[in-house]
Amino acid sequence: MARHLRLGVNIDHVATIRNARGGRHPDPVRAAKAAVEAGADGITAHLREDRRHISDEDIVQLRRILDAPLNLEMAATDDMLEIALRHMPHAVCLVPERREERTTEGGIDAAAGVEYLARFVTEMSLAGIRVSLFIEPSLEQVEAAAMLGAGAVEFHTGRYCNSTGAERERELRRIETASLRAHDFRMESHAGHGLTYDTVEAISALPLIVELNIGHFLIGEAIFRGLEPAIRQMRDLMDDARATAPRTPRGPLL
Ligand code: PXP
Repeated sequence: MARHLRLGVNIDHVATIRNARGGRHPDPVRAAKAAVEAGADGITAHLREDRRHISDEDIVQLRRILDAPLNLEMAATDDMLEIALRHMPHAVCLVPERREERTTEGGIDAAAGVEYLARFVTEMSLAGIRVSLFIEPSLEQVEAAAMLGAGAVEFHTGRYCNSTGAERERELRRIETASLRAHDFRMESHAGHGLTYDTVEAISALPLIVELNIGHFLIGEAIFRGLEPAIRQMRDLMDDARATAPRTPRGPLL
């Protein structure tokens, strides 16, 4: 098991606040630097087709100024593929995108989209970009991602975060089982969406999950406490949960 669990801080909503007034403040690049200072291993940014938060110029500046790895979330379109190949982020996460949604509401359907997605995964992987697919934690989706040759999968944790009790526990087991399957194919397992201080520990304790991407909660919490303390607490919760977790996964949920 990878003992160090990477934290990617998603800075989209710094750009959301900036865009509410136009202009430059608050600057997502400044937020990215502060996030790294506070213990983030990388920065995640979603360049949406409607550019509602992160802009093309933000990507230029992040690539120019940031030393830490950049994980670019994007839809599988020709425009986005061209942008990724031009800016060469460390990683790309392919996500589904619908204009009317407020956020990425579910995973990409890799199983139904194998033929369509193949070109995107192949071109970026050949260029040296680590490609992950944002998917629901199901064996079918993991197997499709493996067939596509993705280097990683990111499990959508929305259902886990939005449920309680036995349902949440079941969803956690689904994520763990999916991570075991990803491991069979030598793919990294990542997770994200909707994670908070209350939900991060159980996910951090899953031994095969090696990266979490967290945004909205941290930017919201930063309003009350400042960005760096908000991130430091998340980092500490992740690290503590990891340190005391079992080193091997439970068996699959059949
Ligand atoms: N991972 C992916 C692929 C996402 O699309 C998002 C949301 O943009 C996140 C992680 C972060 O989710 P949240 O902002 O709810 O923490």
